Amino acid sequence: MSALVAEVGLTTTEAPFVEAAQACGQLFIHQPYELYSAENQDAWRKLCGRMLPRWERYANSHFLDGIQALCLDPQRIPRLDDINRFLSPLTGFQAKAVSGYIPSFLFFDCLRNRAFPTTITIRRSDKLDYLPEPDIFHDIAGHVPMHTDKHFAETLVRFGECAHTAVEQVAGIRDEAERVRCVSSIMRAMARFFWFTIEFGLMQSKDGLRVYGSGLLSSYGEIEHAIEARQVQRYPIQLEWAINQGFEIDHYQPLLFWVESFDHLFSLVDRLEKWMREGKLNHVAPGAPSINEQDLRSFLHQV
Ligand SMILES: [Fe+2]
Repeated sequence: MSALVAEVGLTTTEAPFVEAAQACGQLFIHQPYELYSAENQDAWRKLCGRMLPRWERYANSHFLDGIQALCLDPQRIPRLDDINRFLSPLTGFQAKAVSGYIPSFLFFDCLRNRAFPTTITIRRSDKLDYLPEPDIFHDIAGHVPMHTDKHFAETLVRFGECAHTAVEQVAGIRDEAERVRCVSSIMRAMARFFWFTIEFGLMQSKDGLRVYGSGLLSSYGEIEHAIEARQVQRYPIQLEWAINQGFEIDHYQPLLFWVESFDHLFSLVDRLEKWMREGKLNHVAPGAPSINEQDLRSFLHQV
């Protein structure tokens, strides 16, 4: 290990170890724990320290149980092996280290196999707020505690299976342009559903609305804004609305949807798949998110 690597650490967009893996096309990697710098550990401590009171106040109870079940240490960046020792016996899920972006079919297929692609880098300690790319705080502190919940875990697996249904659905379309158009529409519907539930979902509780979406659970500013701000529109989820609703990623969300429970969420994924089979997702509203070439190819290569 060179002095330079030790100093730079595993910081988002500044990690030579991760860049080297990306350069040779290696998607799945290990977590070289010794490379985390003192500054990286400091970022984790600051992120957890300021977030804990907000989780207590705004997170749903399944998430808080998950934090306990994983024995997540607010003082040190977690080792994925330690997380998995606690997580795996509960739901079969495992956090799996990745070098960065995973093409969407592969990402969904990982969920189907109870593997969660997990970023190992962490944001800079002097830039704790907005970060366009995921980091280990978003993935481990935002997503993985939810994976300790059986109903939520089954919902994710079911959602992962939908990617295979999408491939089956378009496999019979002979005309290539039409096949691309259909699969793009289905992918857009899936991305919107994922966004408005897994990333930014709210859940009803006896104390009012609580957060279960990981984008909110890992954002110090937005978790409070999502529950408290008067200008946020919060509606009971309607599947037909969510799959036709565009979103933008670079500011606080003006529109959020709530579910009653994870059983309710599971039933929505079931319906999503049913609609997919009936062709109802072949023509969802255009708009964000746009489907990038790499994601599109990841689906079409399965056909
Ligand atoms: Fe996420």
